[in-house]
Amino acid sequence: MKYHVLTLFPEMIENTVNTSITGRALKSGKISLHTVNIRDFADNKHMRVDDYPYGGGAGMVMQAEPVFRAYESVRKESQAARQGKKPRCIYLTPQGQVFRQTMVEELAMEEELIFLCGHYEGIDERVLEEVVTDYVSIGDYVLTGGELAASVMIDAISRFVPGVLNNEESSQFESMQDNLLEYPHYTRPEEWNGKKVPKVLLTGDHSKIEAWRLKQSVKRTKERRPDLLSKNRPVTAAYFSPTE
Ligand code: ADE
Repeated sequence: MKYHVLTLFPEMIENTVNTSITGRALKSGKISLHTVNIRDFADNKHMRVDDYPYGGGAGMVMQAEPVFRAYESVRKESQAARQGKKPRCIYLTPQGQVFRQTMVEELAMEEELIFLCGHYEGIDERVLEEVVTDYVSIGDYVLTGGELAASVMIDAISRFVPGVLNNEESSQFESMQDNLLEYPHYTRPEEWNGKKVPKVLLTGDHSKIEAWRLKQSVKRTKERRPDLLSKNRPVTAAYFSPTE
């Protein structure tokens, strides 16, 4: 998977993606990261890329031309362009479709993704119309820019790139259970702060343990995220398991 990120703050992306599991995936070449500083495409000696909004109002707006040039520098070299197609270009905005696990898995099937990060009050609408294929929000709150949102997306998508996780089954398992929260986890010692590890986990009986974990997942989802079980979402077959 190749990620390209168009941004005014490349180090924000690099610092997060270069760490931990995505950092390891970068080193092994399972994913690649190419940041493009939009400021490098400014066409004035002050390297300004923003201006006052037409119609007045607070804040500054990122200009269309430097954003378009930054985008073009990536698009021209993209696999999609070679195939005569438009590359997938995601604009991070609270006005987008909310990022969910289903979208993670769908995007992980792409070979290349472009992320466009806005700052200030946003980006001139005309260039967005020209380049953006997907408007995505990571949640109903407003960040200072799209960089942290792009990093969140890259992290979640990379887990589904084959070979990124050591144990590939773990991501597959979670993908089937994506409308249930994970069961609680325990490790040594067997007793901590007066609290014991649930007995069933010490029995070595795998079918009993699996049944217990499913029950915990359902209980936890009902308590913490009942919305995940609402009628608008299909429930997994596992939810109806006779082991419950
Ligand atoms: N930019 C600012 N806020 C955002 C959000 N919630 N999601 C994605 N991009 C954003």
